[in-house]
Amino acid sequence: MFYKKSIPSLIKEAHESGEGTLKRTLTSYHLVALGVGAIIGAGLFSLTGIAAADNAGPAVILSFIIAAIGCGFAGLCYAEFASMIPVAGSAYTYSYATMGEFIAWIIGWDLVLEYALAAATVSVSWSQYFSQFLLEIGIDLPANLLHGPWEGGVINIPAIMIVCLLSLLLIRGTQESSFVNNVLVIVKIAVVLIFIALGWGFINPANHTPFIPPNAGEVALKAGKIGFFDFFNSPDFGHFGISGVLRGAGVVFFAFIGFDAVSTAAQEAKNPQKGMPIGIIGSLLVCTLLYVAFSYVMTGLENYTAFEGDAKPVATAFAKTGYTFLNLAMMIAILAGYTSVILVMLLGQSRVFYSMSKDGLLPKFFSDLSKNQTPWKSNILFMVFVSIFAGFVPVSDLGHMVSIGTLFAFTLVCIGVIILRKKQPGLDRPFKTPLVPLVPILGIVICVALMAGLPIESWERLAIWMAIGVAIYFGYSRHHSLAKLKAEQGSAAAE
Ligand code: ALA
Repeated sequence: MFYKKSIPSLIKEAHESGEGTLKRTLTSYHLVALGVGAIIGAGLFSLTGIAAADNAGPAVILSFIIAAIGCGFAGLCYAEFASMIPVAGSAYTYSYATMGEFIAWIIGWDLVLEYALAAATVSVSWSQYFSQFLLEIGIDLPANLLHGPWEGGVINIPAIMIVCLLSLLLIRGTQESSFVNNVLVIVKIAVVLIFIALGWGFINPANHTPFIPPNAGEVALKAGKIGFFDFFNSPDFGHFGISGVLRGAGVVFFAFIGFDAVSTAAQEAKNPQKGMPIGIIGSLLVCTLLYVAFSYVMTGLENYTAFEGDAKPVATAFAKTGYTFLNLAMMIAILAGYTSVILVMLLGQSRVFYSMSKDGLLPKFFSDLSKNQTPWKSNILFMVFVSIFAGFVPVSDLGHMVSIGTLFAFTLVCIGVIILRKKQPGLDRPFKTPLVPLVPILGIVICVALMAGLPIESWERLAIWMAIGVAIYFGYSRHHSLAKLKAEQGSAAAE
């Protein structure tokens, strides 16, 4: 359970090339685009409205900043690992080198959950937008084909369709997928910039006051009328006031998920030592700036109360500008944005599986490469798995599960940086996380705080998923681990 992969062997693995290895085709620019591709999606276009209406009011801007700071700390830790060990498995591989095989398996299994469910969640949002788009152009699909059985329908066909199409694109090739991603990213950044530029002149300052709507519980707490735990357990907690800003940060955290997916492509980066930190930190920075400006304009155009229960807050806010003739174009651009998120999530997913299979923890055929050097069998497996979730399961409430899984991975990566700095201080680190251990510790504190704010059901679901993972580990992976095999061969040779 505690076998560790040695860093030199990982670095050697990273420099292997030719038959049976992934191709190095991605430049720093592609990597930033990949990050932005994975990041901007349902989190920005849907959750900004929900977090403003339910939790933070106009101060959702602060929620974005808090979530960005937490992600920034974790991002710096990811950048150190990704530039030092540029292989495909991301947090899974880093844990294998620092905390041993069992923790690595747990984190790999957790990443599967993050990427697969994020792809499924966003494909369901995609399907909602797509059906709206079809309506606008006069096509009315039967509701039964737009929702799964738990939501009063039969099957969500558009969600399955987009997952299958993108999986096939990934099988076609990483370069082709990266090209499509670049186009989608340009379209989605354009829509965000247009929204900000056109909306800016129509901001009504009255909508930004009060900036942090008051919370009756917090007022009573300050006056000493109730104690902290009473407040914490009351329905007031998290609905406006400071606690609302914090809960809002947990909600909009979903909007940042994806920057870590850049590190899953480390083995396909042309110059990972430089490209990985640029890709991870660069995409995070670009998105944070866009998010803050976007949420400022959105809550300035329309009063936050108007976004309650609104599935299309962007259109609601944009209606205030008078440029409503752009609505259809915006809808298409948002669809493009969602598409790139699903694409990069599916990419990350197959790369983690690829690495776990190369290490023997999963059956060998998941790391077989096609003639285009893509792990096509992993792609097919997840095409089916994600399609089942997207087509039948009401994934809207699984967004929290994606967040909790991701926060867990971030926490372990931050811990990993501290461990490796202590145990192997002499390793060549092309990028160094500043102020270790302070930055990783702050990363851990923020991630754990955000996890603590998520609903208890998401913790339960995470525990169930992990229990399945542990069973597979003890039933299969442990006995097939190549690291174990090598260690045993090594000790037999020594005898
Ligand atoms: N960050 C991604 C999104 O917001 C998952 O859609």
